[in-house]
Amino acid sequence: MSDILTLDLPDEEATMRLGAALAEAARAGDVIALSGPLGAGKTALARAFIRHLTSPDEEVPSPTFTLVQIYETAKGDIWHLDLYRLADPAETVELGIEEAFREGICLIEWPERLGPLLPGDRLDLRLSLAGEARRVELVGWRGRLGEIAKHV
Ligand SMILES: Nc1ncnc2c1ncn2[C@@H]1O[C@H](COP(=O)(O)OP(=O)(O)OP(=O)(O)O)[C@@H](O)[C@H]1O
Ligand SMILES: [Mg+2]
Repeated sequence: MSDILTLDLPDEEATMRLGAALAEAARAGDVIALSGPLGAGKTALARAFIRHLTSPDEEVPSPTFTLVQIYETAKGDIWHLDLYRLADPAETVELGIEEAFREGICLIEWPERLGPLLPGDRLDLRLSLAGEARRVELVGWRGRLGEIAKHV
């Protein structure tokens, strides 16, 4: 059984606050899967997460074409992946994703593209459109979601 938390994200500021709260709680070895349709706010959330652990003006491009962007932080390397264009999950093994799963913090857009390579022990963030706003369901991270709920 996993913990589940549902949050309304009325504007981009709310998405950014959630990204920062998750970054505060994150630790090496965490895998965070960001799913949801085009434009749901996956990159916006990842950008706020990364800036919280690097600097507020850190350049955080969408890794749509590069597959991954890596950021060094005090909590370990953050791997920000966008797998929308991934042809074969094995490509991520060549990139070194298995070590990143163990030692880094992985933020993965389009995680379903990994198929069986996606670790079972992870936090799922399921973003959806709610008119002009967004909604998110967080699933996993047993016992750690209470802290997130307090800060958003
Ligand atoms: N809570 C929110 N309410 C309204 N707009 C939001 C919210 N969060 C993010 N946005 C906006 O949604 C837009 C799309 O965001 P983003 O690029 O992060 O989507 P994405 O899920 O990464 O899409 P893609 O699948 O194309 O990578 C941005 O313009 C952002 O400002
Ligand atoms: Mg994106």
